[in-house]
Amino acid sequence: MTDQGTPPTGTPAPASKGGPSSRLRFKNPNQSERFRSPWPLREKFGMLGWLIVERCLCRPTPKFLNGWRLFWLRLFGCKISGTPFVHPASIIKIPWQLTLEDQCAIGAYTEIYNLGHVTLKRGCTVAQYTYVCGGTHDLSDPVLPLQVADIVIGEEVFIGAKAIILPGVIIGDGAVLGAGSVTSKDLEPWTIYAGNPARPIKKRKMDHVTPGSRRVAAVQP
Ligand SMILES: CC(C)(COP(=O)(O)OP(=O)(O)OC[C@H]1O[C@@H](n2cnc3c(N)ncnc32)[C@H](O)[C@@H]1OP(=O)(O)O)[C@@H](O)C(=O)NCCC(=O)NCCS
Repeated sequence: MTDQGTPPTGTPAPASKGGPSSRLRFKNPNQSERFRSPWPLREKFGMLGWLIVERCLCRPTPKFLNGWRLFWLRLFGCKISGTPFVHPASIIKIPWQLTLEDQCAIGAYTEIYNLGHVTLKRGCTVAQYTYVCGGTHDLSDPVLPLQVADIVIGEEVFIGAKAIILPGVIIGDGAVLGAGSVTSKDLEPWTIYAGNPARPIKKRKMDHVTPGSRRVAAVQP
């Protein structure tokens, strides 16, 4: 039996100061028109190239061709360590703004709308139809300039189906966000959250895992 509720090493606990909205930054501080893209030409072409690759070469693949999808993600600048799992029906907006660690998983129809950087730490699961949203707009400005923020999903986190994670959110290690839940706030480690807005409902216990390592044999009570 291992310590229960002890966060594995390495993943940032939610920052206590500021909160997600304080992490927003303008994609292009000089954006002067509502319908003028804030993205540099190089990135626009990169996104177009990735869109074609994702639609034509990744989406039609069977689940077991995960290595093939990781190959293309790496080629487009995704930072990959170990063997994460990317479902063929998932949608990734910008591979070069994505970090995937060993044994993290992106479920079917989940969209990583990573206008800012998104990090999926080791062993976290993002279940199907989740929307990870890394961008918004400055609604006080009629130009609606694009604002982006980075999102971090900690080790051993479980995100339930159809959840929504808003820009700048940091999810502490081992936290759970229930199905259909929405969070615009950081989540504390090893805590289960549910609802819209997501509220803590209980602490999470994990009996059969060595913190920071892989799953081990179940321990009899
Ligand atoms: C969040 C979750 C893990 C909590 O499970 P649990 O610990 O068994 O919690 P309980 O069912 O005892 O519910 C506790 C309370 O939270 C509420 N609740 C649970 N899940 C909720 C959710 N997703 N949204 C809103 N409220 C939720 C319950 O209604 C209950 O409220 P009450 O105390 O007023 O009666 C679970 O409900 C969930 O959402 N799992 C994810 C399922 C999923 O996404 N599967 C797809 C991938 S395989």
